[in-house]
Amino acid sequence: MAVDYTTRDGVAVITLNNPPVNGLGHSTRQGIVEGLDRAAQDPSVRAIVLTGAGKAFSGGADITEFNTPKALQEPMLGTVIKAVENSAKPVVAAIHSVAMGGGLELALGAHYRVAAPGAQIALPEVKLGLLPGAGGTQRLPRAIGLEAALNMIVSGATVKSEQLAQSGLFDEMADGDLLEAALACARKVGEQAGPHPKLRERKIEHPNAAGFIQFARNTVASMAKQFPAPHKCIDAVEAGVKQGFEKGLAFERECFLALVQTPESRALRHAFFGERAASKIPDVPSDTPTREIRQVAVIGAGTMGGGIAMNFVNAGLPVTLLETKQDALDRGLATIRKNYENTLKKGKLTQEALDGRMALIRPTLSYDDLNDADLIVEAVFEELGVKEQVFKKLDEVAKPGAILASNTSTLDLNRIAAFTKRPQDVVGMHFFSPANVMKLLEVVRGSETSKDVLATVMKLAKKIRKTAVVSGVCDGFIGNRMVEQYIRQALFMLEEGALPQQVDRAIEKFGFAMGPFRMSDLAGNDIGWAIRKRRYQEHPDLHYSKIADRLCETGRFGQKTGGGWYDYKPGDRTAHPSKLVDEMIVGYSNEVGATRRKIADEEIVERLVFALVNEGAKILEEGIASKPSDIDMVYLTGYGFPLWRGGPMLYADAVGLYNVERSIRRYASQANGDGWQPAKTIAELAAQGRGFNS
Ligand code: 3HC
Ligand code: NAI
Repeated sequence: MAVDYTTRDGVAVITLNNPPVNGLGHSTRQGIVEGLDRAAQDPSVRAIVLTGAGKAFSGGADITEFNTPKALQEPMLGTVIKAVENSAKPVVAAIHSVAMGGGLELALGAHYRVAAPGAQIALPEVKLGLLPGAGGTQRLPRAIGLEAALNMIVSGATVKSEQLAQSGLFDEMADGDLLEAALACARKVGEQAGPHPKLRERKIEHPNAAGFIQFARNTVASMAKQFPAPHKCIDAVEAGVKQGFEKGLAFERECFLALVQTPESRALRHAFFGERAASKIPDVPSDTPTREIRQVAVIGAGTMGGGIAMNFVNAGLPVTLLETKQDALDRGLATIRKNYENTLKKGKLTQEALDGRMALIRPTLSYDDLNDADLIVEAVFEELGVKEQVFKKLDEVAKPGAILASNTSTLDLNRIAAFTKRPQDVVGMHFFSPANVMKLLEVVRGSETSKDVLATVMKLAKKIRKTAVVSGVCDGFIGNRMVEQYIRQALFMLEEGALPQQVDRAIEKFGFAMGPFRMSDLAGNDIGWAIRKRRYQEHPDLHYSKIADRLCETGRFGQKTGGGWYDYKPGDRTAHPSKLVDEMIVGYSNEVGATRRKIADEEIVERLVFALVNEGAKILEEGIASKPSDIDMVYLTGYGFPLWRGGPMLYADAVGLYNVERSIRRYASQANGDGWQPAKTIAELAAQGRGFNS
């Protein structure tokens, strides 16, 4: 039963009971209307309380119903809200924990609202590429004023109920038991003769509504270029201001129905569910017991170790930071302090909080100080010999049951685990640089990693606010294994006729934050060079363009050496096309006998993105990733893939796998086509007319 109905001394209590967040799916909507009808027909009932069981008043419309017939099955949410608003007996919404989206809109339809402190109040539809579609753009401005409402609607931001106590949204804040307060309110208003207040009847008062709306438009224009929803939010609020409630409501509905079909909204909803799905591992049940993590240790205070330590400290977990030499330890600590000082300068951290965080770090040179750690994350040099030394030592000093994690980006986790006598406790925690900023965490599951270790690390990832995605063991895990194919194509295209600036421009226009060459200049071209040298030995059969090696041989490692694929002026990160590099590229094409041709931007984008998709499909086939949305989450949170396209796998679905396969086969028949064996899954799904996500 999605809705419960009881009566308490002349008050009907309608309780949404649709776990986990009382989403307003069809049966819940129906239950509310039935409850209202029952209350209307019961002469002993004088007022109604509408509330939610469990951990929410309501998290809004049921997003899983969107674009299915159920979403349009009456009673639709607008109908339910109308029934609430038109109830002759007054309705009091009792709001606790979460009132978001359609949930808040439902409460706005009630005649009175009583809220518990601490409730999260929001119209977050814009974050799903939508606008509030059940009157939110019309009633919220009438409740709390144009400016505050527009800010909430356009940003989708969550505001705590107590911050809205004086806003006009709530008639009462409950300091004790919410239901008792709502019942008392209902009994009081139940004695009063109607009509009871309806937000729709209020006017939107503002001294310069047109001016403020224009200001909002200008702000959104610069911030939300790729997303239509924020613009529509403003249009709908404006329609209500200019044309009144009914016309505003009709316009809002029209916009909602259009937005829910847009690829941008699909992408954002895919990311919403993808993020949640990533934390679920098929063979690790959600009730798997987890280990307690109270004390963390990090080995190595270099680029990654420092950032990794900051993550735990930011979440209030004490960290023992171990280095081999005092000067390396001092350097690492100084970098951490500097990072916090930068945050302080921006006004986002107080001195007291900074001191508190630094105090949580216990620097040491001695492994004896690690015996109390529940989790030890290793971030030392990327050499198997060094990892061997460290893990053997950890096996000696770590307490039983401690989780031993490696941040390795290229080494075989199973070999690292085998350096210990407890491979079940070893896991990969592959952070991305800068580790204190980047959202992505690849959790690498070794062949022996135990389920409770995985469950613990996934839970901990939430605590340190990372998007954790599980990857099996393979070279490069999910993200870097795919990016290698992307880079290979980028380099081949230079050889065939493109220049770095053209490749970067095309893929940046597609929406990547940074093209492969600007990216490589930022990270350091020497890193890829080192990896390729290893590849040439391990996979002599793999065909690579040597063009990047030529660049590195001239010492052009990127921004840090003042030049890479581009030229850089001292102290300035702006990439300037380099005549020298362009000549080197043309010379290289001649040397390998390639006839340079004009490569269209469309081909550049396809070859880069489909290289990701093809490798992603192979990763799925091998079980390295357990679902396509995991791959998309890796690319959205770690590699700057455009959010409005939802990740490479969802993008491939939008293009159609039939078309993807055809392109792949075409590229296979061109020069440098040897890397283009289409993944079996792509061919199979295309033949069935399906996509990765269908
Ligand atoms: N519809 C369907 N499922 C939802 C949902 C919704 N509106 N909101 C949350 N869920 C599901 C999640 O997918 C998750 O499912 P799972 O357990 O199977 O993975 C489960 O509820 C719990 O969600 P969280 O893990 O996110 O739980 P939290 O306690 O951390 O957060 C929350 C709860 C703050 C409600 C958060 O889930 C959230 O922000 N939800 C989205 C709210 C939202 O965007 N509402 C607007 C919907 S659109 C709308 O209302 C249109 C209307 O204007 C017409
Ligand atoms: P780094 O060279 O900046 O730092 C390594 C640190 O480890 C140095 O401070 C060094 O003194 C210390 N160290 C070396 N041997 C040690 C030992 N036996 N005991 C204790 N400390 C020791 O290297 P970086 O970039 O931080 O990389 C560390 C690990 O993180 C590597 O495995 C690397 O592959 C991985 N990684 C690096 C990323 C990057 O972008 N730099 C991204 C993701 C993973």
